[in-house]
Amino acid sequence: MNPAEVLTICQPDDWHLHVRDGDILKTVIAHTARQFGRAIIMPNLKPPIVSSDAAQAYYDRIIASLPEGSDFTPLMTLYLTDQTSSDEIQIAHESGIVKAVKLYPAGATTHSDAGVTNIIKLHPTLKTMAELGMPLLIHGEVTDPDIDVFDREKVFINRHLKPLMEAIPDLRIVLEHITTSESVELILSGPENLAATITPQHLLMNRNAMFEGGIRPHRYCLPVLKREQHRQSLIGAIQSGHRRFFLGTDSAPHNQSSKESSCGCAGIYSAHAAMELYAQAFENAGVLDKLESFASFNGADFYGLARNTVKIQLHKLHWEVPAHYRIQEGENIIPLYAGEQLHWQMLPA
Ligand code: NCD
Ligand code: ZN
Repeated sequence: MNPAEVLTICQPDDWHLHVRDGDILKTVIAHTARQFGRAIIMPNLKPPIVSSDAAQAYYDRIIASLPEGSDFTPLMTLYLTDQTSSDEIQIAHESGIVKAVKLYPAGATTHSDAGVTNIIKLHPTLKTMAELGMPLLIHGEVTDPDIDVFDREKVFINRHLKPLMEAIPDLRIVLEHITTSESVELILSGPENLAATITPQHLLMNRNAMFEGGIRPHRYCLPVLKREQHRQSLIGAIQSGHRRFFLGTDSAPHNQSSKESSCGCAGIYSAHAAMELYAQAFENAGVLDKLESFASFNGADFYGLARNTVKIQLHKLHWEVPAHYRIQEGENIIPLYAGEQLHWQMLPA
């Protein structure tokens, strides 16, 4: 094969992933483990993962669901609530398996009812995290119904994130799944302890995609897809090669019936083809040479973890995404780009 059609890179990690629990876990974790060495596992189960014991039990269930021979490592997180104490953070730090804590503003997204109602009251807990170097992962959207849904990230930055950064300047923060030019600018001008993840859907699609030929529930996620000018800012972020932007798919599977409903759930499933989707986005942006640091180096460096050593290969091959993945009788996940052609395929090196 023409060497230009094969890209060999260090094995990547996914720094923002939902794998759920129960029947669905086995299917989705296999998709992630096919590509990634590690992934930051989101704690928004029902009930959420609020203690290190719960994180350990969830870790064990994930390991038990992995395909035979897989050496994938789940990196666990705790779900921050109004009650999370400094002691709980200390225990999490000592557990060795919990690598970060996730802040969902209460009511912001799927399974976030137990989230934080007042960040200021949690300052003692967050100061402990800063002392221990434990990153805070933020779903950065306000929840106020009077704020336009397309402005909720921008308003969160000004109302909550900037004051938090001023109050606890040493706190390591990852602003998750960024979607706007305001977030890109904040990272570019921000301190060393502030980083962001970017999803494949926010690089590949703007908000028109949700309404192409009719309403498209499988393209609906939170934060919602934004205007083209914001997508262009995210493209600028990956073109910059800045090391505080890194890969986080936010792959968030839901049953077909929960998505195709009169009140459909937010969440796009992308784990089946994560690296293929990012490769497409980086190729479109003319920066395939910057994919490796975004996918395989920047996140590990920010988290203070060793980079992976295994190599993977992306081949310029056309393949069709299946129309669905079956979980069990009557339960399917509809993946991103279902039934459509992708132009890269990841294969073991
Ligand atoms: C996520 C989910 O379904 O758990 N949904 C989403 O649209 N991204 C929650 C989240 O990360 O916001
Ligand atoms: Zn998420």
